[in-house]
Amino acid sequence: MPRISQLFIKTATIFLLIGVGLGLQMGIAQDHSAMPAHAHTLLLGWVTSGLFGGYYALQPAKAERRIAMAHYVVYVLGLVIMLPALYLKYTGYPQFEPLLAGGSMIVGLGVLIFAYVIFSRGDQRASA
Ligand code: HEM
Ligand code: HEM
Repeated sequence: MPRISQLFIKTATIFLLIGVGLGLQMGIAQDHSAMPAHAHTLLLGWVTSGLFGGYYALQPAKAERRIAMAHYVVYVLGLVIMLPALYLKYTGYPQFEPLLAGGSMIVGLGVLIFAYVIFSRGDQRASA
């Protein structure tokens, strides 16, 4: 499996652990205020990152391109900023809203890079 796929899938699994942990914590505490952080940790962190990893495994030529690593770094950096800020915003710390906005924009940039990877030709210029 290409290295970028392994990175995405390992990172996705860390988000799965955190997201399921948040779900269990909400259920046990009978307090669902962390629901948006739970939902997005799992859907952006586990599901979407896992899909990215699967895509690069199916397209090894694109996995070798330098932009694939830029995609990983930008997307995961965005999540690492966005998700804690989302958790904090919904659990009583609204002052984290600007960090949430910034992190979300970075995630959006990561998604744009992925769209570029998808729609650009994959058969050229593997990074030397
Ligand atoms: C042991 C595992 C899990 C537990 C205990 C759990 C628990 C919960 C709880 C307590 C809520 C709040 C429900 C509400 O207030 O309406 C919730 C919502 C949600 N969960 Fe989970 N969850 C788990 C796994 C997952 C997984 C694996 C995913 C996605 C891959 C997921 C996606 C969602 C989503 C999208 C919502 C929001 C639903 C809505 O919009 O009403 N959960 N979960
Ligand atoms: C940077 C990307 C994203 C941003 C900024 C974003 C933003 C939001 C916002 C503002 C809400 C309403 C929260 C509330 O007040 O309850 C929401 C809800 C939701 N989003 Fe996203 N979203 C993003 C990506 C995604 C993706 C990729 C998925 C699915 C794969 C998703 C699934 C959901 C679901 C299921 C809900 C309803 C549950 C909840 O309230 O948390 N979102 N999102």
